[in-house]
Amino acid sequence: MSYTPDYFRTLAAEKLTAERFQHTIGVEAWAGKLALKFGLNKQAAALAALTHDLAKQFSLTDQLAKAKEYDLIYYPEDLDHPQVLHGRIAAYVLENEYQISDRDILNAVANHTLGRPKMSPLEMLIYSADLTEPGRNFPGVDKLRQKLYHDLSRGTLACLEHTMQYLINNKKVIHPLTILTYEDLKHELSK
Ligand SMILES: [Fe+2]
Ligand SMILES: [Fe+2]
Repeated sequence: MSYTPDYFRTLAAEKLTAERFQHTIGVEAWAGKLALKFGLNKQAAALAALTHDLAKQFSLTDQLAKAKEYDLIYYPEDLDHPQVLHGRIAAYVLENEYQISDRDILNAVANHTLGRPKMSPLEMLIYSADLTEPGRNFPGVDKLRQKLYHDLSRGTLACLEHTMQYLINNKKVIHPLTILTYEDLKHELSK
């Protein structure tokens, strides 16, 4: 069978908590608008949005065990902060259990939490829509949405800046992959 956005919307409704499902369809709606604005594949955006947090249905202990089993630990920091692993686990499951072979969709799901250097437009779209979907209401979120709608790359840079500032303010560790992503995108945009 082919796995459509409808299939994964139903799966998300079944597997996720009500709050997380609301977030998921919020990401789908906002990612869809941005995809239309920037000429990206709406079906791919919907698929990535609807599946990005699917692995959050597993406990953190299970996520860590799955990440080890599937060989998805890339940084020592991953072990200290297993909550960063759910994107990679979801991408692994999509590829191996649902035969999703579109690498861009898999990358968008895998990298939605931390980003990665040289993100594709779809990856930036999911990374940023996750942070700024309509259900989010932290101070400054409207500004981020405006920036995103105006310019996907610069909007994504602003999302990265926001996230890093939030982590600094809360005395939390910034994952090296997020720092690399930020430096890379900043460099790209200064050319
Ligand atoms: Fe997530
Ligand atoms: Fe999310």
